[in-house]
Amino acid sequence: MSLSNLFTSSYEGPLRVFFGRQNELAFARDALENRYSPYRAFFITGNRGCGKTTLLERISHMGADLGWLTIDVHSTHASQAILDALAGGTERTVAKSAAPSAAGLTLGSISSSTTITYNTTSLARLLQERAKSLQQNTGILITVDEVQKIPEEDAENICASAQLALRKGLNIMLVLAGLPGSKEKVASYPGCTFMQRAFDMQIGALEVDETIQAYEDAFRKMPQWQIEDDAIWEAGRFSQGYPYLMQLIGYYAVERASDMTQLTPAPITLDDIRDVEPIALDGFKENVLSPILSTLPESLSDYLKAMCLVGDEQGRIATSAVAKHLGKAQSQVSSYRKRLIDRRLIEPDGRGYVLFLLPHIREYYEGSDRALREWDPKQQWNRYS
Ligand SMILES: Nc1ncnc2c1ncn2[C@@H]1O[C@H](COP(=O)(O)OP(=O)(O)OP(=O)(O)O)[C@@H](O)[C@H]1O
Ligand SMILES: [Mg+2]
Repeated sequence: MSLSNLFTSSYEGPLRVFFGRQNELAFARDALENRYSPYRAFFITGNRGCGKTTLLERISHMGADLGWLTIDVHSTHASQAILDALAGGTERTVAKSAAPSAAGLTLGSISSSTTITYNTTSLARLLQERAKSLQQNTGILITVDEVQKIPEEDAENICASAQLALRKGLNIMLVLAGLPGSKEKVASYPGCTFMQRAFDMQIGALEVDETIQAYEDAFRKMPQWQIEDDAIWEAGRFSQGYPYLMQLIGYYAVERASDMTQLTPAPITLDDIRDVEPIALDGFKENVLSPILSTLPESLSDYLKAMCLVGDEQGRIATSAVAKHLGKAQSQVSSYRKRLIDRRLIEPDGRGYVLFLLPHIREYYEGSDRALREWDPKQQWNRYS
């Protein structure tokens, strides 16, 4: 691997180039700086690999730079991790109980076991105490990743504690990141219904101009390589602004260029990008498309496959054509369409049309489906060119 390759092919791990998300960061900054912001608790949701964790990290750094106490936790034992961070240790009550033992001991014998129970008021109390002790313009920023996996009790504890502190006018901010539908899931817990009002920042692929700009900025940091304009455009077209795929293409293009030439700066051409597209796509399929698409119910994957086949001259996909292809009335398949929209795999594209929200779904299915292999692709990106 070339040391000065700032892109990464790893799905997780440290990042050296960051793409786009300027609006989202400005939104978060505004919420941090404005005590009366209605966005002191919000969700970041999107599909795998679209950059939720990466954005959460950035927001956390931003909070720390502004002098906030930032606490980043994952869905596992989230309340406890927050308590630990606030208390500098585990705040807990230890209750001794004498009870018939669980499996393993003879029935009827009495054993003394130690049950550790977390005092549900302690998080709310500690949060308020710490927030009051901080300087006026700083506060406590809590970020929770993978929130779709968080147990109900934990979610209620965290959200209710944050809400209580916010109601008292304390400087608290809570950002929860998860897969599409996370907000609905958390807000459905009886103790979290107020989270229905929280903003859902839905993220996905970058816009076309953001994508081009992101590549230009990244290559400006790598003066050893000189990328041609049509190569940048091709990288953008192929990645369709999906951040992980943008990293993969950038990474393999730089690796290829450093193998091919001793020139400085080394050129990266349109052909270089085209040559690395298959290997970049493999990584994207493995880490993003497969985890999402291989677990879909058959009815939904059939709908997506039909979408791959019925694009018109402009690449537009009519819902009527999808239904016809499936041999069903539109009303029979409208619930599939809705479920795919909820999962943010597709979106309406004007009345009666839909489009894919994830790149290369067709190529993913192509391996297993002959009809798809023979279809002439109509890339969504063509519509921008
Ligand atoms: N804004 C970005 N700038 C640069 N690279 C990014 C950005 N967002 C995501 N990536 C790249 O995509 C990879 C996956 O991103 P990330 O882990 O943030 O996605 P995620 O939405 O949290 O996915 P998952 O649902 O699987 O947790 C990162 O390791 C990074 O390589
Ligand atoms: Mg993540």
